[in-house]
Amino acid sequence: MGSFRIIGGMRLSGTVRASGSKNAALPIMAASILASEPVRLEGVPRLADVDTLALVLQELGVAAERTPDGNLLMETIDPTPVRARYGLARRMRASFCVLGPLLARRARAIVPLPGGCNIGDRPVDLHLKGLAALGADLRIEHGYVVAKADRLTGATIHLGGRRGPTVTGTANVLSAAVLAEGTTTITGAAVEPEIVDLGNFLRALGARIDGLGTHTIRIHGVGELGGTSYRVIPDRIEAATLLLAAAITRGSATVAGLIPAHLTEVLAALRAAGAEVEVQAESVTVTADGPPRPTDITAAPYPGVPTDIQAQWMALLSLARGRSTVTDRVFPNRFMHVAELNRLGACIQRRGASAVVSGVERLSGGSVTASDLRASAALVLAGLAAAGQTIVHRIHHLDRGYERLDRKLGQLGAEIERVSAKTSCGNTGSLVQ
Ligand code: UD1
Repeated sequence: MGSFRIIGGMRLSGTVRASGSKNAALPIMAASILASEPVRLEGVPRLADVDTLALVLQELGVAAERTPDGNLLMETIDPTPVRARYGLARRMRASFCVLGPLLARRARAIVPLPGGCNIGDRPVDLHLKGLAALGADLRIEHGYVVAKADRLTGATIHLGGRRGPTVTGTANVLSAAVLAEGTTTITGAAVEPEIVDLGNFLRALGARIDGLGTHTIRIHGVGELGGTSYRVIPDRIEAATLLLAAAITRGSATVAGLIPAHLTEVLAALRAAGAEVEVQAESVTVTADGPPRPTDITAAPYPGVPTDIQAQWMALLSLARGRSTVTDRVFPNRFMHVAELNRLGACIQRRGASAVVSGVERLSGGSVTASDLRASAALVLAGLAAAGQTIVHRIHHLDRGYERLDRKLGQLGAEIERVSAKTSCGNTGSLVQ
């Protein structure tokens, strides 16, 4: 297992570019099953999760290949397989995004139910409810969802759950409905930019979709979709993580190649925490020259502060002069990082779906273990600010979703080193490197 060795205390400065969005790229790759002609995707990040999904798709008869200029070419070469293998799909929940496209294009799908997850309870009942409303016959057999539908038919489907809309649930139902007969209306749909991006990709293939970016999406089914060349949006979670890294090190860093409007609430929260935020057309600069102000953060569905940067916020607020409350409305049990941050000297107490962060003057480096993707990023941020050396173990979690984070932070002047990279992105020799 790889780890990062970080020597804390360097103020970050300079400019880095945001990578393409993981959470947009994955459902778009899965939706390539729907295309009758080749698809060329630009901006797909080089990540372990992308490699995993490429392997899942390859077993489903879709070839995925990186061109020398880094684009991803996808083409169905065998339209008959309908079963995603547990051994591969269990590595990543987003594999479940193949369910809707398989059902719509191949009339059958056998996809492993996603299992437990370190960030808490993550059911898929809404995905199943939505596909059933389109006329699919769904059963759970031996840990798999077994789905059949000789014909999908448009319907009105409410996807809003107790904790707000479901992002990948919206992706699954949207991707199935584009080939359904008649009109589908999804209410309570997710409005995340990644869903808008998936919708725009489907439109580029020839789908007819209205209302993207609103909670009501209307899809008029078409008989067939073609191919396209499409650029995936920049990763707002990676960008926010890098901007928070600038703030925690009391540095000044610019993240370029992003869409600032996707970060409106995050930037407002950074300003509230005392950072100076400068927004340009396609870049954002964050400068901080002292400890953060205590700030209450509530992670919520878009346009709220994303749950995927809740942990990183907690790292930053650990050093605030005073007490902050961090609440997660999307995943109320997503607090695995609290104990590890406390091992570095933070003072955080869990209270139900919130954590009370009492700011400390300094963090002190030590060995910590990452439990999931975003928790790993929070530990890296804490390490950048902590006195002395921090080792973050099990960074394979981080490689699932950040494209060479160590290099990007190094480019900004951080002292960070990958200690053992056997499982890291770029060394797996896999299909889409
Ligand atoms: C996606 C993102 C993930 C992000 C999350 C919330 C991808 C690949 N992953 O995950 O990074 O943290 O959105 O922004 O894009 N729920 C149900 N029933 C369902 C589905 C979800 O009750 O059928 C609940 C979940 O438990 C959670 C909430 O709805 O409380 C939102 O989850 P959801 O949006 O589905 O998360 P994912 O799509 O899995």
